[in-house]
Amino acid sequence: MCSIIDDIEIAADWLCKDEIVGIPTETVYGLAGNMFSEQAVNKIFTVKQRPTFNPLIVHIAKGEALSRLAHSIPTQAYQLAEAFWPGPLTLILPKNPSVLPLITANKPTVAVRMPAHSLLQNLLNILPFPLVAPSANPFTRISPTSAGQVAQYFDGQIPAVLEGGNCEKGIESTIVGFEQGQVVIYRLGAIPVEKIESIVGKVSIAQLSKSVHIPQEGLMAPGMFYKHYAPTTTALWVDNLQAFIEAHPHKRIGVLSFQETAPITGITQEVLSAMGNFDEASHRLYAALDRLDKAQLDYIITTGVPDQQLGRSINDRLSRAFKRQHQ
Ligand code: TXA
Ligand code: MG
Repeated sequence: MCSIIDDIEIAADWLCKDEIVGIPTETVYGLAGNMFSEQAVNKIFTVKQRPTFNPLIVHIAKGEALSRLAHSIPTQAYQLAEAFWPGPLTLILPKNPSVLPLITANKPTVAVRMPAHSLLQNLLNILPFPLVAPSANPFTRISPTSAGQVAQYFDGQIPAVLEGGNCEKGIESTIVGFEQGQVVIYRLGAIPVEKIESIVGKVSIAQLSKSVHIPQEGLMAPGMFYKHYAPTTTALWVDNLQAFIEAHPHKRIGVLSFQETAPITGITQEVLSAMGNFDEASHRLYAALDRLDKAQLDYIITTGVPDQQLGRSINDRLSRAFKRQHQ
């Protein structure tokens, strides 16, 4: 049984005993363990069915922890941390020896972020160690934005999930690294590129890998695997909703749209934000996708969202979940 709890002391007890616990963050729920416990870190990889070549993010409560985990921290990293921490920004930095190689998949760098969720901050503050946590979904499945969804994914496999409500941001943190003085975005996320650039100037965006399971040479953030965040229903990114629906009269079709309603009545539909607001759309994205996935449909279709600001990060996730289909 996986219980949903709201007492951070109980979560801390489990974590101190090398157990792993579901935790809320402002982005998505995580599957957390003591970063210094090999046993806990191993459990995370096993339970999540995550390949060990895909490294984990370390979650810290206070800025001081950064210098214990990483070295040679560039000025731009401090500027970004100053601007966005606590918040959905993950920094990739040269790691110190205290970070287990298992966490970083033997890479010389470590991913660090200071989350903004107050309950998680309280938990981190009573723990004598930072927490490593990947998103709390089985490998390649949709990231959970509620405690109930985590309990459903991992019932019988983890002792508890800490109830922290529906995640405010709804998509994962933006991952930023540094290469020869250049700021590089490895994963588009809850902080739009434009906001990162307002602090450090022009950034480059790492090439996305089109592979599903096999890491490619030079691939910096395996979270950029092409197939990721995927529903189990066939999900297609189409050019025209109406044309697709008309061409498939006997199929059960669900539509995921930004603000427009479906062109044909009687179609199952999730509108991300009727007002066309990106924050609301990202907040609702994974839960909407999950509801469509559970609606026993033949197809889920979308045309994406406007490709700017947070819309770009939303489209990034949609492009991993939906297969491009040209009619
Ligand atoms: O918002 C988030 O970041 C959530 C919450 C729980 O904090 N976490 C999350 O973790 O999305 P996960 O494990 O699902 O994604 C972490 C990403 C992976 O794509 C991983 O490859 C990348 O971070 N990563 C971790 N360490 C890295 C490193 N040293 N170099 C490059 N990428 C790294
Ligand atoms: Mg993930």
